Amino acid sequence: MNQAALHQLLASKNILGKAKKTPTELFQQRFHTNLAYIKDLFFTLYPEVDTVYFSKKLPAKLELLFKERPSELKKQDLDRLQEGNWYQSEKLVGMQLYVDRFNQDLKGLQEKLSYFEDLGVNFLHLMPITTRPKGENDGGYAVNSYHEIDPRYGTRDDFTELSKKARENNIILMLDFVVNHTSDEFAWAKKAKKGDIKYQDYYYTFDDRTIPDEYEKTLPEIFPESAPGNFTYIPEMEKWVMTVFNNYQWDLNYRNPEVFLEMLGNLMALANMGVDVIRFDALAFLWKKLGTISQNLPEAHTLISLFRMCLQVIAPGVVLLAEAIVAPRNILKYFGENQFEGNECEIAYNASLMALLWNSIATKKSSLMIRSLKGVPNKPIDSTWINYIRCHDDIGLGYDDDFVREMGWEPFPHKQFILNYYCGRLEWSPAKGLMFMYNPKNGDGRITGSAASLLGLESAIEQGNKISISYALDKIIMMHGIILSFGGIPLIYAGDEIATLNDYSFLEDEKHKNDSRWVNRPKQNWEVVKNLASSKGPASIIFQALKKMIAIRKGQEVFADQNNTFIHESPNPHIFVFERKMGEKSLWVFSNFDEVSQSLDVSWLLSKGILPGEASVDLLSKKTLELNGNKDFYIKPFGHHWITNI
Ligand code: GLC
Repeated sequence: MNQAALHQLLASKNILGKAKKTPTELFQQRFHTNLAYIKDLFFTLYPEVDTVYFSKKLPAKLELLFKERPSELKKQDLDRLQEGNWYQSEKLVGMQLYVDRFNQDLKGLQEKLSYFEDLGVNFLHLMPITTRPKGENDGGYAVNSYHEIDPRYGTRDDFTELSKKARENNIILMLDFVVNHTSDEFAWAKKAKKGDIKYQDYYYTFDDRTIPDEYEKTLPEIFPESAPGNFTYIPEMEKWVMTVFNNYQWDLNYRNPEVFLEMLGNLMALANMGVDVIRFDALAFLWKKLGTISQNLPEAHTLISLFRMCLQVIAPGVVLLAEAIVAPRNILKYFGENQFEGNECEIAYNASLMALLWNSIATKKSSLMIRSLKGVPNKPIDSTWINYIRCHDDIGLGYDDDFVREMGWEPFPHKQFILNYYCGRLEWSPAKGLMFMYNPKNGDGRITGSAASLLGLESAIEQGNKISISYALDKIIMMHGIILSFGGIPLIYAGDEIATLNDYSFLEDEKHKNDSRWVNRPKQNWEVVKNLASSKGPASIIFQALKKMIAIRKGQEVFADQNNTFIHESPNPHIFVFERKMGEKSLWVFSNFDEVSQSLDVSWLLSKGILPGEASVDLLSKKTLELNGNKDFYIKPFGHHWITNI
């Protein structure tokens, strides 16, 4: 049993009678339940630390942070403990958005709660809203503070009000905790620049290039075009500082236990603002070690688990999302493995599914996706995915080379093909995307662009080609249909629900022109939204289709995530089939990635338990599973079905 399950059990025994404990007593109980674990993790990372230092600092800090937690949140924590794994519910449907680009500021966002309700969205990922440098700031991922709201978004009160409204309306809020780095304007960085050694030790700082050069031998480059190298010279302090992302994002030195303690306070400040899910940004990078790529290191896992165990003591209703866009096998580790199982993050981005979906669109085949998804072990039972097709970042092509070879493709040319397909290098490709961070040294690159443009809507509209437009719309619906039916929380990227195309205006903005991810950070078009009911254009078609799928999802318990998503070996390489199962009930999702009709043999359907004809229905079209004369189940180009037996 993991620690969360233990706390749930203890909380469930706390409902009746005189023995009922107060929130503070329950805090004490959680503290003592986790203490051995916390100590173990802490001293694994910091073996040199004196135990007296530990017993003076950490317990007192946890107690203080608990005291600071508002009472309504303490109550919510207990409700959630009694409820169990609330984040696995089929009722959750998410949207990710930039507050300013969506509707100006936090107040403006509040005005749009009815928009989310109309669509069925009840989980919001708000992109960073705290203070950041005026110039380049990586969309707010260079933080000047972890809890001061940037005036462009409003005030602390605006946020408190929003989070209150969200709670009243059963809306879950997710915010980022940029745990790996601060901006170069953060208070610690400023003190470090002034020569304060204490704060220089909060970062990885070096007098000369000797150690940085050693690191560079094995560290990859994250932004090779705009921020080559992993260190930046800071003239004010006459030192080099580690900057794995942009040169204004300084990597925190977690080898220093003071950094951990301070960051725990920052994490709690966020949780105490009423945030339900905390997105641990770039957490794969948390620990650095010479001679390694300094990603996914065991110490990073120990550190995340340590944060988790402390957070659980203070705010057990708050859960963590791992933003680990790494190889499929490595993503799973962020749920916690072996002795850590279930003791790291409850949620992780399903980056593997996302990248494989884009591979399936380009190759028109689902075979690599099937092989890859079946090739990794199941995630732990208490965890869940965020399923998404697009977000504010690029699409990285993190496929497993062995699986690519099994398909008969060579990994390098295959990757080049995918890049060419999406980035305007193949004349026949309908996709309109941009290349991100192409590295001529190794041919690596990533892709940016909005879902609609990558799926061919932009080029189809330009050509005025009705068939291509309808194919693009079907692809958009199919891709969203998959994330809305797969096990986990679907996260729609704001704008995709109205088929927003690429936004090229970033090219005219000095701050953004070197970062093509901005092509997919458009302003929400409220004019389009206003006309959704009256128009029959792409925006309305997509909005209505998504709205319908969301409503169906919420009404079917089989969509709750209980590790009950089973990928089938489809005999037709173009068709992706997976099954959701709960008790006696099964639901099969079919998607045809080809631009011509494809079919499945009825005997195969029967062997999977699908009863064609009157006995089954497609929840999306409300039609029974019709078969033609030769008993094959035909799926039209980019067709998508949710079939269940009646
Ligand atoms: C995460 C964010 C990305 C940002 C990076 C550095 O990957 O999603 O936008 O650039 O972290 O903070």
